[in-house]
Amino acid sequence: MRLLVVDSFAAEARALRSHFDARFADPRRATTDRFVWDLWHVPEQYTALRTPAWEYFPKETYEAFHQRLVWWGRRTLGCHDVSPPWLSCYVNGCEQRLHGDLPHGPVAFVFSLTNWNKRTFRGGETLLVRDEVLDFWRGFTSTRAVEEPELLDEVPARFNRLVAFDPRIPHGVRRVDGSMDPTEGRLVIHGWFVQPRPFIEGPLKERALELAIARVTEAIGPSLSAGLPLAGLLSLGFDVGPDGRVRGLRVLADTTRTPEEHQPGRRALVKAARKALESHVFPKSRAVSHVTLPLVFER
Ligand SMILES: [Fe+2]
Repeated sequence: MRLLVVDSFAAEARALRSHFDARFADPRRATTDRFVWDLWHVPEQYTALRTPAWEYFPKETYEAFHQRLVWWGRRTLGCHDVSPPWLSCYVNGCEQRLHGDLPHGPVAFVFSLTNWNKRTFRGGETLLVRDEVLDFWRGFTSTRAVEEPELLDEVPARFNRLVAFDPRIPHGVRRVDGSMDPTEGRLVIHGWFVQPRPFIEGPLKERALELAIARVTEAIGPSLSAGLPLAGLLSLGFDVGPDGRVRGLRVLADTTRTPEEHQPGRRALVKAARKALESHVFPKSRAVSHVTLPLVFER
């Protein structure tokens, strides 16, 4: 997984945006709640206005959004929490040049409150360096011209869109050229999904899951001790039926990376993990449980 895009993510988007617009409605009115923005400027790297999102919005609306985000991270990634998110506004000249985020969290997110379809600025897309660039010489041929679309993926910051991505991939925000009016800028809430750990919804006991995890660890152990250089997050999702059988096992998110020559080893490891889970029999229970199991590999 390089990135996941979820449109129409939050029912709270309109209310969050309205709060921002109301604060900037009258540029001549100086209320204390306007004096909360930091101009973050690292020369030649980052320029944007930012403020802690959790303090900026009305508590109830923000909390509803935050909980939605947290639960999405638990169910989709197996990440238990979200780092305290920032609200960033990009007006004319603001940008993030390419960089990688380490070690904030295994998955980064950008949630947009930008009026993208009515924007008056150019730029503002989220950029990710393409895999072909990170492994440029492998696919190199002297017959093909290379321009920016072949080097960078660009993701428009559409209103109410959540983008989750592997923050180790060099990424940035294309420089915004346009208005100095904050209400016409690129407006996003952003941060990281953190604390990957197993997550159960249903009657399944943690102890029972620990036994299954031990089997998975045992199954993938030989690959790792043989020196498979793997790094990233592999989140598996499955249900455990009342009969204790595993159903619907699937890869929810996979940011694991390894050099090309180790790809067969990586595939074998994923297969071994799946097989260990699918053959495991949990204790019988009264109802179905939904499980997210994140496996974290570090180098
Ligand atoms: Fe970043």
